[in-house]
Amino acid sequence: MINVNKIREDFPILKREINGKPIIYFDNAATSQTPLPVIDTIVDYYSNYNANIHRGVHTLSQEATYAYENARIIIQKHFNASKSHEIILTSGTTFGINLVAAGFDSLLKREDELIVSALEHHSNIVPWQMLCERTGAILKVIPISLKGELILEEYEKLLSTKTKIVFVGHVSNTLGTINPIEKIIAKAHEFGAAVLIDGAQAVPHIKPDMQKLDCDFYVCSAHKVCGPTGVGMLYGKEEWLNKLPPYQGGGEMISEVTFEKTSYAELPHKFEAGTPNISGGIAFGAALDYMNKIGFENIASYENELLSYATEKLLKIEGLKIYGTSKNKVAVISFNIDGIHPYDIGSIIDKLGIAVRTGHHCTQPIMDFYNIPGTVRASFSFYNTKNEIDVFVEAVIRAKNMLV
Ligand code: ALA
Repeated sequence: MINVNKIREDFPILKREINGKPIIYFDNAATSQTPLPVIDTIVDYYSNYNANIHRGVHTLSQEATYAYENARIIIQKHFNASKSHEIILTSGTTFGINLVAAGFDSLLKREDELIVSALEHHSNIVPWQMLCERTGAILKVIPISLKGELILEEYEKLLSTKTKIVFVGHVSNTLGTINPIEKIIAKAHEFGAAVLIDGAQAVPHIKPDMQKLDCDFYVCSAHKVCGPTGVGMLYGKEEWLNKLPPYQGGGEMISEVTFEKTSYAELPHKFEAGTPNISGGIAFGAALDYMNKIGFENIASYENELLSYATEKLLKIEGLKIYGTSKNKVAVISFNIDGIHPYDIGSIIDKLGIAVRTGHHCTQPIMDFYNIPGTVRASFSFYNTKNEIDVFVEAVIRAKNMLV
């Protein structure tokens, strides 16, 4: 059970007013808000043990190293990876995808095939297109249905022994659809293809199990799970991470350096060149601890309640259409109202203190599919309330009345 009033006390930002109104923050899919235990972790790091890690015999450096490596273990346990060195700390989801895409340079030949889905965020499309340009590999696309679900029969037709890697989002940032990634992974493996799952939008709602999923790579960002921006995770199976070359050269990722030849450090350091976001990594661990205390089952069931409540209320507004109507979806609602530009609704309700995202949400292919310029997207979190949804729906009605 969620005690939402108590939880809200953990989030100082929720006490803010915007344009003289209490803030209603429904842009959680863009970034989640940060609870006090996470803020305190960052303040504690800079106040008490700020030092570079893995490099000093002095006490501060050892304390920082311990906290950073402990965060890696919290992340490993959260995602049930079998080894802590399968967790690479990155600057975020985009970095993780680029790292893997760059690593596939040396593994592909012309006419090899890669499979993406039509639901992807640009960050899970563009790095692979760049890879195709470099290697001559071919990008194939899994189409979607009007409900915003992947058409699995079409996916199966795309697979062949030419397929080298499949990359699919766990959850769509725009439509909220939860993709059947277990099936997608198993099918790809039948053809010997690797699978990368973009978990950026799944991790606030779902606790994914790396060993059960059996994916080869899984990427996400801390700022979607109440952590700070600028830090994230790439999970990779040990055999894959050993196969891929380093992404960036620099300090920390080497074993021996001479001008003749450099040898690389063992995992995970081979992929962690330079001084990382130390406080961010430690706070990522604190954020997962915080969310696990609330419990992901509690979070999912409460957010589903919010989703049903908001969907029902919004659909009563004449001319309002929701995009993404899969039964399997997280608490994200993308919608438009006949004849009104999404940006206009977003701007008016901002004046009433309500934060939503408007636009194409970095998913232009989805907008092209529905033949729309963008949507208004409301995305809920476990710290939102039904009362906030009531105020939001009233604000949308008010905006509609002003604009039609
Ligand atoms: N990818 C984030 C979103 O969907 C920023 O808003």
